[in-house]
Amino acid sequence: MKFFVDSANIEEIKKLNEWGIISGVTTNPSLLSKEKGNPYDILRQICEIVKGPVSAEVTAVKFEEMVEEAHRLADIHPNIVVKIPFIEDGIKAIKYLSERGISVNTTLIFNPIQALIAARAGARYVSPFIGRLDDVGHDGLSIIKEIVEIFTIHEIETEVIAASIRHPRHVLMSALYGAHIATIPPNVFYQMIKHPLTDIGLQKFLEDWKKKEG
Ligand code: G3P
Repeated sequence: MKFFVDSANIEEIKKLNEWGIISGVTTNPSLLSKEKGNPYDILRQICEIVKGPVSAEVTAVKFEEMVEEAHRLADIHPNIVVKIPFIEDGIKAIKYLSERGISVNTTLIFNPIQALIAARAGARYVSPFIGRLDDVGHDGLSIIKEIVEIFTIHEIETEVIAASIRHPRHVLMSALYGAHIATIPPNVFYQMIKHPLTDIGLQKFLEDWKKKEG
């Protein structure tokens, strides 16, 4: 499973990219609206930092306007992947854009059938939102498992991006269930690398080393 950063914050993306484990970035209108500056400039900067797919979402909801906005976003950089919401016009836009060589990440996926339809329309990625399903009392991770199973049975190449990740266990289970990618907010990356026994163990090693005679 690959790691993407789910953020539009340049400083956070730069810091995490220095770890050398980041394969891509996902943004959305909410994340971009939190940042100062022109969203297109921010997306361009992200593409210069991370050498991998960078998802940029359309805000139009009608087919013609979605397609037009998707082209503008795709023109920012060759690594831009256009995020299209899973709505009726979105399905048509996925088909249209995929046939014209624009990679699509289908967003706001909340059940496996939506994912299957997006894949059949030609989406390069589907993004099931785990955390938001948990928030309404459903089991978000179960749809990761089901989507991966369906794609495996039917030999579908569309990649599954576990999105709306809230904690390290979402990452662990997404990896076990076979998600190709987890897109992770910066705070969860820092939670993932922490273990109290690592800190205690290191402290002990260093103390013992200081005590060494000769
Ligand atoms: O980028 C899409 C998704 O990861 C959003 O997550 O935390 O707003 O539900 P969240």
